[in-house]
Amino acid sequence: MQHILDELEDRRARARLGGGEKRVEAQHAKGKLSARERISLLLDEDSFEEYDMFVEHRCAEFGMAANKIPGDGVVTGQGRINGRLVYVFSKDFTVFGGSLSGAHAAKITKIQDMALRNGAPIIGIFDAGGARIQEGVESLAGYAEIFQRNILASGVVPQISVIMGPCAGGDVYSPAMTDFIFMVRDTSYMYVTGPDVVKTVTNEIVTHEELGGARVHATKSGVADGAFENDIETLLQIRRLVDFLPGSNREKPPARESFDDPDRLEESLDRLIPANPNTPYDMKELIEKIVDEGDFFELSPDYGKNIVIALARMEGETIGVVANQPMVLAGVLDSDASRKAARFVRFCDCFDIPIVTLVDVPGFLPGVKQEYGGLIKHGAKLLFAYGEATVPKVTVITRKAYGGAYDVMSSKHLRGDVNYAWPSAEIAVMGAKGAVEIIFRNEIGEPEKIAERTKEYRDRFANPFVAASLGYLDDVIKPHSTRRRIIRALRTLKNKKLENPWKKHDNIPL
Ligand code: HXC
Repeated sequence: MQHILDELEDRRARARLGGGEKRVEAQHAKGKLSARERISLLLDEDSFEEYDMFVEHRCAEFGMAANKIPGDGVVTGQGRINGRLVYVFSKDFTVFGGSLSGAHAAKITKIQDMALRNGAPIIGIFDAGGARIQEGVESLAGYAEIFQRNILASGVVPQISVIMGPCAGGDVYSPAMTDFIFMVRDTSYMYVTGPDVVKTVTNEIVTHEELGGARVHATKSGVADGAFENDIETLLQIRRLVDFLPGSNREKPPARESFDDPDRLEESLDRLIPANPNTPYDMKELIEKIVDEGDFFELSPDYGKNIVIALARMEGETIGVVANQPMVLAGVLDSDASRKAARFVRFCDCFDIPIVTLVDVPGFLPGVKQEYGGLIKHGAKLLFAYGEATVPKVTVITRKAYGGAYDVMSSKHLRGDVNYAWPSAEIAVMGAKGAVEIIFRNEIGEPEKIAERTKEYRDRFANPFVAASLGYLDDVIKPHSTRRRIIRALRTLKNKKLENPWKKHDNIPL
């Protein structure tokens, strides 16, 4: 028996070597960890159970029959993050550049199926050269099998993609269909076609970094939801993120013991709003002061910065925060901000995460560029997402809520459950100056009259009481009690039941 056990150990050791020491060293020299090192950092100590480590490819072309490496370029299995089950696959760049064969794809689809059946998040770590070029259509079929499962798992189990090296061709489309994509600065890039193909087709000369580096996707394209400094920081942040999420849509997000007093008052919030309505203030200060322990996980912090989206906890339970950011473009809604927030609202709704919306928005961004870029459709995405969401929705208007943006930002009329405003709120069709210039256009040459009209408009509308008198707000609250009031509202919504009419699925303006 002993020799059989020894042989098993030998086989395992060979599989663990991947592409061999030299290639692992090359990986380290590029500042990247190996596939297995990444898994061990991501998961709780000793919790990883590997599957399919002896799987080999079936390709015989181009000398591949004599070139087989157990595991075939991807390490798959399950383990725990802070005690909770997750499924994971990690592409091994040291084996055929992490490229995808039919056998490699089958390893991934196997754990996708398990994650879906057993109701646990799936985390994919990418560092790969796309389709296995020697294999052809079997590889393409493998990608499509993965895509199909990404689609079926969407909204059922959280799916997270971590890009830690090159990621091209088929390897970008699977991440694109998952809930979150994170990248590592300087060592990862994502594109459909690489710089060589770009040069041939369009004559543009770009580097890998310029075409698809973390800076591009976390700030310009919005493809990535975040970028971190190195492999270690990235994996630790993923652990932090998973802590906020439920295993699936069949369970509630995890609750954690909180040592932060739910009745905590924050007197400094009474001074947050500047005297001049056009002076910005940092909405993240408000978020920090009302959530448990001031701790929140911001998503897409460098893209569409005029809106902030984050996961946080109140009374130990996960909430999603959507907040206009007056520090950037006065917190206006443009196409990027609308798309960013819409996707997040839908994520929260899929996974039963209550949404807290903090509003200070002067409206939608006017301009030719925005209109040509489809602001109508992009703004409608956010409107649609809020309107269809059935999770608890608590809204606080801190200052401006103008025009269509008032409606959009989780207003009472879009089934906001509990809607509050601070006394500093201004709820109107538009700002006083703009309004007067339209209504009293014929008086524009008379500055005194215009000033008087502007004051009149401001006195009438630059407050929350018109909306409150119509029942569109449930109360006007003191800023210092915001945390307490939101927590009380969330408590009342724990057993909320609301269903949309039956349909196959909706047709959100994509
Ligand atoms: C087979 C591959 C491979 C691939 C890399 N390798 N990509 N083997 N199929 N797709 C192998 C290399 O031959 C090399 O093997 C080893 O992996 C390391 O690759 P290097 O090129 O030495 O590494 P590096 O210089 O870091 O460049 C990484 C890279 C480059 C940028 C990813 O390898 C590359 O451009 N690969 C091809 C990318 C590509 O076009 N893929 C197909 C996309 S089409 P040796 O033994 O020499 O060390 C696609 C279609 C799917 O994916 C569409 C579905 C919708």
